[in-house]
Amino acid sequence: MTDAPKADTLTVRDNRTGTEYEIAITDGHIKAADLKQIQAEGQPPLATYDPGFVNTASCRSTVTYIDGDAGILEYRGYPIEQLAENSTYLEVAYLLLNGELPNQQQLDTWVHDVTHHTFVHENLRTLMQGFRYDAHPMGMMQSAVSALSTFYPEAIDFSDKENRDLQITRMIAKMPTLGAWAFRHSQGKPYVYPDNDLSYAENFLAMLFKMSEPKYEADPRLVKALEVLFILHADHEQNCSANAVRSVGSSGVDPYSAVTAGIGALYGPLHGGANEAVLRMLRRIGTKDKVGEFIDGVKNGKERLMGFGHRVYKNYDPRAKIIKKATDDVFEVTGKNPLLEIATELEKIALEDEYFVSRKLYPNVDFYSGLIYEALQFPPEMFTVLFTIPRTSGWLAQWSEMVEDPDNKIARPKQVYVGERTRDFVAMDKR
Ligand code: CMC
Repeated sequence: MTDAPKADTLTVRDNRTGTEYEIAITDGHIKAADLKQIQAEGQPPLATYDPGFVNTASCRSTVTYIDGDAGILEYRGYPIEQLAENSTYLEVAYLLLNGELPNQQQLDTWVHDVTHHTFVHENLRTLMQGFRYDAHPMGMMQSAVSALSTFYPEAIDFSDKENRDLQITRMIAKMPTLGAWAFRHSQGKPYVYPDNDLSYAENFLAMLFKMSEPKYEADPRLVKALEVLFILHADHEQNCSANAVRSVGSSGVDPYSAVTAGIGALYGPLHGGANEAVLRMLRRIGTKDKVGEFIDGVKNGKERLMGFGHRVYKNYDPRAKIIKKATDDVFEVTGKNPLLEIATELEKIALEDEYFVSRKLYPNVDFYSGLIYEALQFPPEMFTVLFTIPRTSGWLAQWSEMVEDPDNKIARPKQVYVGERTRDFVAMDKR
């Protein structure tokens, strides 16, 4: 005898009332709004409580797929390993934004368009020069991108696809310029203008490091490593910053303002700021023999092992594997970063230790990226900027998808109110 086919529904019995409800399951999810029909007398309609969106989908998406248990990451269905091996960052950005890999003509047009929007208005340069000498580059980036919305007020009319695409091209093109200028500012060096003869990554390196030489020529191995890092950081589905972009964007604000929210979210040490925190942690540990003592502190809850653990990956982060390989390529050019020894020892101990094993804590993308960035002569404050530049394509792909989604609504979570109710005002002399 075979089992009768099961309907894609969930039967819920409310034990307060004895009533049963049948709720549809679509693509493995129920609609939270369907729970509203469940209500006991004198109680509000049933809702879910989910701080941090641990088990709540906020959208339907076709951009990025992650299987955290299997350690799989795909952009538009293409495995990250194949993209990192075979494509350039701009090719991947096109894929994220348009859903398909570009043919040669599409790629040429896209690269041309991005290349010819790399300059920024001179008044924006003046604005950046107004920051203090020690301003954090992420704060400068966030302010500069926010300011871009005032230079392109037409960006608010994003229902026009052509206009929307123009703003997307502009933002992807200008990010390296703004990031490089934030760096030059902190160094007290003159800002370098874009060189449109160079590729996206080469141009960024030139704006960062060029001095008096007529043409800056980066080592092709470093260019390749930067391209790979950019590809790995381009998108990561509904992470904290993508959610910030979607949430702020859902109010109908222009894309520059929405991306500004994403930059703010990425700045935090639990998100993109982790790469900076990893490097500071490694420096603090100082030598390989201090690793055991440090790990004991982590296990006793004194602090976290930065660059370890992930909300979604309960397996090795596939990006960390690719980065580990890129570190070897970069160190071949720059010489080994002495902190690598400490990082390797930390990883070895953590991967064997019951505390980390039982919690499925593995190295994430930020564990090794900081070592590469440091070898490339970046100060730690710049690390998250190096994440912001490529993540812009992911944010904009997520934002575009949201704008076109008929299910889209202004983001407005519920709360569980547990405070006082309806009290009489107390005069100052009675408090
Ligand atoms: N070191 C030590 N313990 C940890 C760590 C860590 N890095 N991460 C998680 N745990 C423990 C945590 O204390 C908890 O233990 P217990 O069950 O005993 O209370 C358990 O593991 C589950 O942790 P959680 O905080 O509930 O997990 P989460 O999914 O809310 O947090 C995370 C994810 C990435 C914020 C967290 O793992 C973390 O803080 N990692 C360090 C910061 C970091 O590397 N962030 C970069 C993430 S990847 C790139 C990006 O998103 O930008």
